[in-house]
Amino acid sequence: MAAKIIDGKSLAAQLRHSLKTAVAALVARGVRPGLAAILAGDDPASRVYVRNKARACDDTGVHSEIHELPENVSERTLLERIARLNADRAVHGVLVQLPLPRHLDAHRVLDAVSPAKDVDGFHAANLGALVQGRPGFVPGTPAGVMRLIEHAGVDVAGRQAVIVGRSNIVGKPLALLLLQKDATVTICHSRTRDLAAVARQADVLIAAVGRPRLITASMVKPGACVIDVGINRLADGKLAGDVDFDAVKEIAGSITPVPGGVGPMTIAMLIANTVRAAELSIE
Ligand code: GUN
Repeated sequence: MAAKIIDGKSLAAQLRHSLKTAVAALVARGVRPGLAAILAGDDPASRVYVRNKARACDDTGVHSEIHELPENVSERTLLERIARLNADRAVHGVLVQLPLPRHLDAHRVLDAVSPAKDVDGFHAANLGALVQGRPGFVPGTPAGVMRLIEHAGVDVAGRQAVIVGRSNIVGKPLALLLLQKDATVTICHSRTRDLAAVARQADVLIAAVGRPRLITASMVKPGACVIDVGINRLADGKLAGDVDFDAVKEIAGSITPVPGGVGPMTIAMLIANTVRAAELSIE
């Protein structure tokens, strides 16, 4: 039986709709939530992502600004811009789009964002809070993945969750969120032996590596919930996920498409974090 397709686009639209109400309540109290995105360099995919984030802000009534800096921007200039935005009362969320130009130290840059405005959840303090199960901003993609799994009607408690990919922005924080929900979590990576055998154990399989169609049907347990975080541009210009969707949908119980799965949820969760940052600023 073909899998249920988990519609991230419509779930994200619902979420954004409910965020509009929260934004209106803040505006009534004299505070319009604001998000500043810093785009350093001219990576075309980053440009699209930042533009989509700004559009989602417009759609929900959140003020947005895009700060474009040249590829050869100095770390000092970038840190000064972040400091200015940290102090700007009209800005509640500050994000630095990744990847950064190679000459910049991403850890130093991300840690320069005020933790209270770190709506991407990439500051060491917010990631540390996540490790300890304390309140803080959770990165949008892993938070969105958790919502999608829940929306698919899958309770992860006691189940095997396998994450393919160990990035700081998806794999590692997602492992912590799944652990908080009592899943048994395995993280696979490029040195994992027999990825297929490990993946086949998964009740919930999440692919977040950036390799088109890495996950094939023979790597999926029948009935598993499969979440595809990959967004890969193919030579013909089309987008493909990390999962061979057409084949895997015949095996899985539920699956996210690319596009229209995780991507829209990442943005919705970012807006949710920005609204939360604005609420906290007046509490
Ligand atoms: N690059 C890839 N994903 C993300 C994200 O969620 N936030 C930022 N800032 N950069 C990214």
